[in-house]
Amino acid sequence: MTALMDQDVLQCSFPTGIADMKEATYNDGCGMSEFADKIVLVTGSSSGLGKGMARLLCHQGAKVVINGRHPQRMQDTLHHFRKAGYEPEGIIADVSDPDDSKKMIEKCIEVFGRLDILINNAGIGCAGLFEETSTECFQQIIQTNLLGSLFPTRFAIPHIKESHGSILFISSLAGLFGLPYISVYSPSKMALTAVAQMLRLELDPASVHIGIAYVGFLINDPEKKVLGPDGQWLPPGDRPRQFSQSIEKASAIIIKALKKRKKTIYLSPYGKLIQVLTRVFPGVYRWFLVRHRNRIRTTYVSKNKQV
Ligand SMILES: NC(=O)c1ccc[n+]([C@@H]2O[C@H](COP(=O)([O-])OP(=O)(O)OC[C@H]3O[C@@H](n4cnc5c(N)ncnc54)[C@H](OP(=O)(O)O)[C@@H]3O)[C@@H](O)[C@H]2O)c1
Repeated sequence: MTALMDQDVLQCSFPTGIADMKEATYNDGCGMSEFADKIVLVTGSSSGLGKGMARLLCHQGAKVVINGRHPQRMQDTLHHFRKAGYEPEGIIADVSDPDDSKKMIEKCIEVFGRLDILINNAGIGCAGLFEETSTECFQQIIQTNLLGSLFPTRFAIPHIKESHGSILFISSLAGLFGLPYISVYSPSKMALTAVAQMLRLELDPASVHIGIAYVGFLINDPEKKVLGPDGQWLPPGDRPRQFSQSIEKASAIIIKALKKRKKTIYLSPYGKLIQVLTRVFPGVYRWFLVRHRNRIRTTYVSKNKQV
């Protein structure tokens, strides 16, 4: 268990206004003050998609809390943000740990006095056959991807009810249909759909928005790793470039939909197509998966570690 300590809460206090070269691609129809003074916590935001969304939210005026487990990565991310002129807070916490999650939410309230938006983004990918995956890996994936969304949500709800804010879950197209060669990743993401459905019913009277985004392949950060069947960290497989989206674009679509309080978010035409296939023609989608089984395997399992 990782303790959340005061010295782990890092704050940047650098001058604003130094735009970064990539800024233009982040601005997708939302003005700079769309989220003015909203308090937004993005879990797992020291790299990847979480970092992309956090940056865009900063750009649109939100007061953003960045989260991750590793202090050095957090320091590097905060440095990157402040170079671009933003001043997020950073909280080191492991969302798969209930105590850390509780303290993370408490720290947000202590610093800002309220919480408007929680984005449950922290997640880990995995690769390998189910039958070869260790039970420890099952636990790690479910603890991070499912419990790591449930714990922060559980402790954030009273505050989000007060602000009539939003809770957004980052799921995956792999959460629409159980995919092969990624073991329990699909189940961990599919469960988030049930969580979102349940919370929508429970929190509707409190005017809380519950959203879920089904993300497809991303052009990952170079250091991105996925969990192999026996617990080793591997590079992700060979993803088809034509179906992969940049983190900037994915972030822009998600944040725009969050602004509109959309319930369900698909990020591309092929994401929408998969949604229709899985709901209306699941047999056709299954046939497609069987036919392209080998291609799917290389997509998820890096070439030097084929199962
Ligand atoms: N990449 C894709 O192609 C893709 C596709 C569909 C869906 N998604 C989903 O999108 C989300 C982000 O994925 P990504 O590819 O951007 O991931 P990533 O690049 O691997 O980054 C994951 C982030 O989460 C943090 N993290 C991991 N476990 C954590 C924990 N237990 N507590 C707190 N922070 C934790 C990591 O920092 P530390 O290691 O320092 O904790 C890191 O900042 C995930 O939910 C993923 O399942 C991704």
